[in-house]
Amino acid sequence: MPLPERVTIVEVGPRDGLQNEADTVPTAVKVGFIDRLSRTGLSVIEATSFVHPRWVPQLADGAEVLAGITRQPGVRYPVLVPNETGLDAALAAGAEEIAVFASASESFSERNLNRSIADSMAMFAPVIRRASEAGLRVRGYVSMVCGCPYQGQVPVEDVARVTVELFELGCAEVSLGDTIGVGTVGQVRHLLDHLAPQVLLDRLAVHMHDTYGQGLANTLAAFEAGVRIADTSAGGLGGCPFAVGATGNLATEDLVYALHGSGVATGVDLEALLATTGWMADQLGRPPTSRVARAAMAGREPS
Ligand code: HMG
Ligand code: MG
Repeated sequence: MPLPERVTIVEVGPRDGLQNEADTVPTAVKVGFIDRLSRTGLSVIEATSFVHPRWVPQLADGAEVLAGITRQPGVRYPVLVPNETGLDAALAAGAEEIAVFASASESFSERNLNRSIADSMAMFAPVIRRASEAGLRVRGYVSMVCGCPYQGQVPVEDVARVTVELFELGCAEVSLGDTIGVGTVGQVRHLLDHLAPQVLLDRLAVHMHDTYGQGLANTLAAFEAGVRIADTSAGGLGGCPFAVGATGNLATEDLVYALHGSGVATGVDLEALLATTGWMADQLGRPPTSRVARAAMAGREPS
């Protein structure tokens, strides 16, 4: 299948990116980052998470972040929520969309959520039900879809089972996470071929970490297979503290550059995005991993 005419990018830098910073980023910087991203044409920005602050102290200020940002019309700001405690906090903070996060690997489920896959689904069920009743859109994640640092290979059947279950519980969309960035184009095609008879591909997203430099190729392969949504992070920030070897997500500007050059619309203003990545790099005191952002910062701005 050719590339689609238009895709949706879910910017996960403020959540996936900043949860993995060794030093907690000040709330005002998080707010500044999200507000700048909000003015780049991105339509979905995952803002923060409402998980146990002992597990992810970097995002313990989720309520303050939501209170501080200026929500732009037409931009959605989902937040990560694992359980009803998190949902209560997210609702109190004015969240309008949430994401629950499951794993296709038992060992990662234990490490990330302190429970088995089955127990995590039991934990998500009332969250999804209550959130839906309150009018919130719910996204689901499946982690370790291309491999797991603890278990090794993850069968596509396991990914499919968790994906289907998240849809059955009421998720509007499910994002397939290559959490440690080990997948390849062949693997992604095989996974999506396996999923295609069971779920609607245009209700899937892909969430490719870029550890082995495969994130862009894998995301484009998913678009060619019928997926229409991809998660990326400005500057290539990201990683999961509970997944050994997880580095940043595919950089938003790398994907936008590739798509615009191929005639695929994203709605994102690349110049504004690069300015935001540069601003965030200054705040963090280190250059972005994104090749496109580095080239732009070196004055070789891609046209
Ligand atoms: P637990 O210890 O099993 O929790 O952790 P519990 O239900 O037994 O409760 C223990 C205590 O924690 C209780 O307090 C609860 O109130 C409190 P106590 O009664 O002892 O005083 N508690 C909470 N406090 C604040 N917020 C909450 C919350 N829940 C319970 N939401 C839990 C279970 C799920 C909470 C924990 O494992 C956790 O927070 N995990 C989060 C891990 C995480 O955030 N990982 C990173 C995000 S996932 C990711 O990055 C992958 C992704 O990007 C996709 C990909 O790349 O593949 C999405
Ligand atoms: Mg991730």
